[in-house]
Amino acid sequence: MKSYKIAVLPGDGTGPEMVREGVKVLQAAAQKFSFNLQFKTFDYGGERYLNTGEVLPEGALTELREYQAIFLGAIGHPDVKPGILEQGILLRLRFELDQYINLRPVKLYPGVDTPLKDKGPEEIDFVVVRENTEGLYAGTGGFLRKGTPHEVAVQESVNTRMGVERCLRYAFQYCRERGKKKKLTLCGKTNVLTYAFDLWERAFHEIGAEYPDIERDYGHVDAVCMWMVKNPEDFDVIVTDNMFGDIITDLGAIIQGGMGIAAGGNINPGGTSMFEPIGGSAPKYAGKNIINPLASICAGSMMLEHLGEKEATAAVENAVMKVCAGHIKSLSAGKMGYSTSEAGDLVVESL
Ligand code: IPM
Ligand code: MN
Repeated sequence: MKSYKIAVLPGDGTGPEMVREGVKVLQAAAQKFSFNLQFKTFDYGGERYLNTGEVLPEGALTELREYQAIFLGAIGHPDVKPGILEQGILLRLRFELDQYINLRPVKLYPGVDTPLKDKGPEEIDFVVVRENTEGLYAGTGGFLRKGTPHEVAVQESVNTRMGVERCLRYAFQYCRERGKKKKLTLCGKTNVLTYAFDLWERAFHEIGAEYPDIERDYGHVDAVCMWMVKNPEDFDVIVTDNMFGDIITDLGAIIQGGMGIAAGGNINPGGTSMFEPIGGSAPKYAGKNIINPLASICAGSMMLEHLGEKEATAAVENAVMKVCAGHIKSLSAGKMGYSTSEAGDLVVESL
């Protein structure tokens, strides 16, 4: 029997409740499709930091590299200054484990409400490939004359040919394997960011020449936002840099039904990848058993796909679709008509 070692990082806020339901469904899928998942839980997050002053302990990265995947809940604690946990845990894992792709599907399931008028599951089905290790997130820059009236703050966007190229290759390949419209849209800002997106655009067409079956399309990020609302059906796969990817995937999440369902994968094709619901730790709902666990379950299904468990992936996704179409009243926390654990049970039952 195939066996996979999975590191579970429940994290903060509603993270633990979400992850609990995700793991429940993953275990059920493993049983049904005869493979084995060995979970080990790590307590990284706000509570641990407040108790120990340590964000990620010595050796954490070395240990996590031993796992085939990481299943993450959420990072962010109301008593910790913004940035400390996000940079010290989430971004550090993405960077040090070289998870250079952030893969975020935007798919509206039947029965789920979208705020877009006259759009349904037929129209809303695309994937964003976000570069996940560079750009404005690289952390270069600094202050000059900090705290004086002449203060200068510089935050640079770092774009390496290697980093851009590996992201683009992944996107072209992904678009080919997805086998839908076979159209890859580069989302940039070539009219203003004339260095960064010049590099992106040149690499896009050079690499694109190796993928003659994939149509190449380009949109400035502001226009892409507009079209995601007006004509989401025009998109198949969108590839973009880290910052633009962050922004457009929140827009994507809301058109697919919101944070109750949106999931993503931080992928290193040759290393340890990490799967997470993309909504944050939602502290106001924490511990109440009312948060919607579907986003975590969808992250679990992406993890199964990454591990190569195709049948189990499809089965979990179908189970989520059934629950969306048949049971759940709303995807919002507290309005589902079910508790967090009941919603998880419903998915297990339909599985
Ligand atoms: C996301 C989040 C993170 C990001 C934050 C929490 C650092 O918004 O995963 O999209 O900006 O990447
Ligand atoms: Mn974000």
